[in-house]
This record gives sequence, structure tokens and C-alpha cells, in this order.
Amino acid sequence: PAPGWTTTADVVVVGSGIAGLTAALELRTRVPRVLLVTKGELSSGSTVWAQGGIAAALDPEDSPEAHLADTLVAGGGVCDPAAVEVLVTEGPARVRELVARGANFDRAENGDIALTREGGHHADRIAHAGGDATGAEISRALVAQLDAVRSDPGIEVIENALVLDVLTGTGPDGVPRASGVTLHVRGEGTRDGVGAVLARAVVLATGGVGQVFRSSTNPPQATGDGIAAALRAGATLGDLEFVQFHPTVLWLGLGAKGQLPLISEAVRGEGAILLDTDGHRFMPAQHPMAELAPRDVVAHAIVRQMAATGSDHVLLDARHLGADFLRSRFPTITERLAENGLDWTEEPVPVAPAQHYHSGGVVTDLHGRSTLDGLYAIGEVACTGVHGANRLASNSLLEGLVFAHRAARQITESVAAGSLERVDPVDRLGPSALVAAAARSRIQSIASSGPGVIRSGEGLATAAARLAAVRTDAHEASDVVAQPQAAEWETTNVHQVATALTAAATLRTESRGGHFRTDFPETDPAWERRVLVSLDADGTL
Ligand code: FAD
Ligand code: SIN
Repeated sequence: PAPGWTTTADVVVVGSGIAGLTAALELRTRVPRVLLVTKGELSSGSTVWAQGGIAAALDPEDSPEAHLADTLVAGGGVCDPAAVEVLVTEGPARVRELVARGANFDRAENGDIALTREGGHHADRIAHAGGDATGAEISRALVAQLDAVRSDPGIEVIENALVLDVLTGTGPDGVPRASGVTLHVRGEGTRDGVGAVLARAVVLATGGVGQVFRSSTNPPQATGDGIAAALRAGATLGDLEFVQFHPTVLWLGLGAKGQLPLISEAVRGEGAILLDTDGHRFMPAQHPMAELAPRDVVAHAIVRQMAATGSDHVLLDARHLGADFLRSRFPTITERLAENGLDWTEEPVPVAPAQHYHSGGVVTDLHGRSTLDGLYAIGEVACTGVHGANRLASNSLLEGLVFAHRAARQITESVAAGSLERVDPVDRLGPSALVAAAARSRIQSIASSGPGVIRSGEGLATAAARLAAVRTDAHEASDVVAQPQAAEWETTNVHQVATALTAAATLRTESRGGHFRTDFPETDPAWERRVLVSLDADGTL
């Protein structure tokens, strides 16, 4: 739809999780006008749900080098070592800044930040808050900081604003560049309906893709909007096939779908064990780190064990940790289990893998710059190269912090140097046709059985064909083009991400990290490289 109103800013930041809030707070005093837009409330997104914690070498016995080594191992040989080095060396300072911004992490008896362990880490380096409510505390602290400066003329916040597309124009050098965004504001007043923000730089901080799958730990906002918009604008995507399935998501029966409760890896970090439904502990035979092996190893072992026992779940047994400890260390999880009629102090609880995190996304350099001038991506939407084929536990919040900071610094320098000028957008049509919202659950089923936790060439080919049919059927069956609503835009993005992810998973004829194929079960050294995805001039992948 044509924008009904237009406004301008120096930088528009899209999303208000840890990455978007950090970038907006960093930019606010450095460039004249920052606009933060987010599709829900400020606390929407995955950040507020994060449980286990944030990883950083804060213990004097630990080191960034040791954190780097663990990250590279988990990443299965395809991390960008330079990006990981940035993450682990700048991480501790960024976490201390977060404390200075008011985030209250749990403390040890000596007053130091208490540190725990999670899968794939060889040291206690996970800082946590409220026991198992780390994300809620980080979000609270950052939102409070933003609220305190909201009346400042240098920053404007628009909530309930769904960014639809990234606008592009041509820079003075003749090269395409981002020139703002279109957005649909569900509010009141002059900024209601579809509008446009023209800006020198667009920072995507839109989070993950969980809603592409039938079951996920991610909240409803995780519809891959930033990835889809970046693709349509001409940016390159990478590592899309590397999807992380968390091993221990509460199993609520076969019909359960959408956002499901997570049982943090920190529970296994504290000593909980996995049993199959026959009561047999199976992880020690699979990996020297047993239940604390990297996440992909545990998730695949669970799926194999479920197949061997003919069950659709396994059991997480935490009883030996003691009722008092479980209730005080993991209050959120204890409550979520009770809401579902489960008492983990008395009985093992059913768990199964579900989608949790997307390592891939918009390809960026070490400063958050995408391949499209003026377009930045930070946090889960980005593909910085720090996660490779499998993200190390609790490195995600850290990535959001570290790279938001770096992108803000880079934008500040470019604005000061005059190399980030605003250009006029050229007319863009957005997606060629929107997908009906009613098609969402069909797309989710296709994604879960095609590029799901276990993949095959045949399954991926079927998924690709069924996804292509969804677009034709949905377009024919509805008048969404005439009356586009937020749900249609989101479903179109879900469809576009599912299609691109399936294509990337088809290309990678090996197994590595979060990408496991039964027809190519081995890791192939020839595949120590990245699958890149972009659109041709005619709009095909
Ligand atoms: P998000 O926090 O997801 O924020 C995205 C923002 O973008 C939201 O505000 C959303 O509303 C907005 N948005 C999206 N699309 C649009 C659009 N079109 N227009 C406008 N706004 C838009 N990681 C860890 O490191 N440690 C943990 O302990 C941990 N636990 C987790 C537990 C759970 C249950 C989940 C779901 C994730 C967990 N993760 C954890 C992963 C981590 O929380 C996320 O990767 C991280 O918070 C992502 O931050 P972000 O800022 O990139 O995106
Ligand atoms: C968890 O608490 O298990 C999630 C940690 C993460 O995703 O890094």
C-alpha cells in the first residue's frame, strides 16, 4: 500500500529486544534523531523470555580465549573466528555496562556475579538474574533506561508498528542503499495506518523465526520479518539452514503448537539428567559431556532415543537437586510446570526438542553492516558468523549486546564523516503477492517436517513443492492484496523465510550442527563454507 504519511529520522531502529534497545540507547546521544519502532510493546520479542543467562568470561579463572574455543567447537567449524573473537573479548565489558544500566544479576556470597554452566561450556561463565528470568531483568533495565529518556527530542519511540519493507534508493556513487522503511502503525492519531520513515540508516533488530515452525520457544512476534524484508531489499542472507532446536522444551502432547515452555539448559547445568521413557539414562553413551554436550548433539540424541523407544518425548529428571533448590534457583520454570499440572520436585517431566534459535540471518560484517549500504542487522536477525552451525548456549544475548554497540559506533562515525547520507527512495512494490494469514499453520507444518530437526533431500524437495503451492493457493483463495493486514504481512514473511531456509538446507549436502540430513549424515570438510541466499533481479531465490 502507498504510505499515507512520511516522517524522517537519522537512524530508524526496528525492534526492541536486547539488540534494538541497546542500539537505540547508544545512538540516542550520538546522532541527532533516532526513531525506535517495534511491533508490540517495548518488551516484546524473545529477550524477555530468556532464561539461562548471558555468557561472558567474567571469572578470573576463565578467559576470552577459553570462551572462544568453546564457541568454535559448538559452531562445528563454520564460525567466523574474527567475529567470535570480537564477541568474547568485548563481551565482559558489555555485560558490566549492562549492570551499570541497572540490570541486577544474581550474586554469589562474596558479592561477585554468580556464574553457572551450560551445554558446551568448559567453565562457569553464565551470568543469570532472578534465577531463571535473565531476559526479563535485562529487558526491564533497558526499557527503564529508555523510558527515562523518552521525552528527549533526540529519540522517538513508536510501539505497535509493524515494519513492512526496507525502502531503497541510489547513493551518490550509483550503488543501491537503504533509505528508510514502510510501516503499519496500529495506533491513533496522525501516525496511524501505513506510513514511511526516511532515514540515513536502517537497523534491523527484529529477532528470530520461531513462528516459521509448528512448535518453538519463541514468542508470537518471531515471524522472521527482518530477514524477509532484507531479502526483498536486496541484501544477502547466510547460514539460514542452521536452526537450533532446544533439547528440553516441555512436551505438552502431540497437538501442542506455537510457543511452548522452555526448561532451561541451566537445569542440566545444575545436574539434571535425561532419561528415556523406559527410565534409561542415554546421554553418557553419546558424548563425553553427557547431558551438557552441545545443544545439537543432545537434541539429535533425544530424537534418536525417542525413535528407539517409540515415544514422542523423553524425561528430564531433576528430583535429586532437591525441592528447595529447584524452587529457589528456577522459580519461573517451577511455576510454568505447575501451571501445566507438573511438579518436578516429585517426578521427571516430559520434554522434546522444539525450534529455539536461528543462527542464520542477514549477513553482516563486524560492525553490523549488511551487503546493502545503509542497512544494518544486529541480534538474532543477523548472521555475524559468531554461531556457525550451532550457537553455544547463552551466546545470543551477548551477541545482541556486543554487535548493537559496534553498529551504533559505526553509524555514529559514518554520520559524523558525512558518508551516510539520506537518499530518496524509489517506488517499491513489496512482495509480489501477500500470503493469506489462514495459510500460517500449513506453512508451519511443512517447515517442521521439511527443514525440521531431522532432514532429508526427499523431505526438503517435498517441502519446497508444498511451499510453492501455498503461495498459489493462498493468493487465489483470498483478497489479501486488496486488504492487507498485519497478519498477512507476517504470514508472507513466514512463508518467504520457510522457502529460503528450505532452499539453503537443500543445498547443504552434509550434516553439521543444527543441520542434520539422514541422506548425508556425515560432516563433509568440503562444506566448511557458508550458503548464501539472495534474490535475482526477477525476484527468484
Ligand atoms: P528479540 O528480543 O526477539 O526482539 C525482536 C524485536 O523486534 C521485538 O521487539 C519485536 O516485536 C520486534 N519486531 C519483529 N519484527 C518486527 C517488525 N516487522 N516491525 C517492528 N518490530 C518488529 N539466549 C541467551 O543468550 N540466553 C538465554 O538464556 C536464552 N534463553 C532463551 C529462552 C527462550 C524461551 C527464548 C525464546 C530465547 C532464549 N534465548 C536465550 C535467545 C535470546 O533470547 C534471543 O536470541 C535474543 O533475545 C534475541 O534478541 P534480539 O534483540 O535480537 O530480538
Ligand atoms: C536456556 O536457558 O536453556 C536457553 C539458553 C540459550 O538459549 O542460550
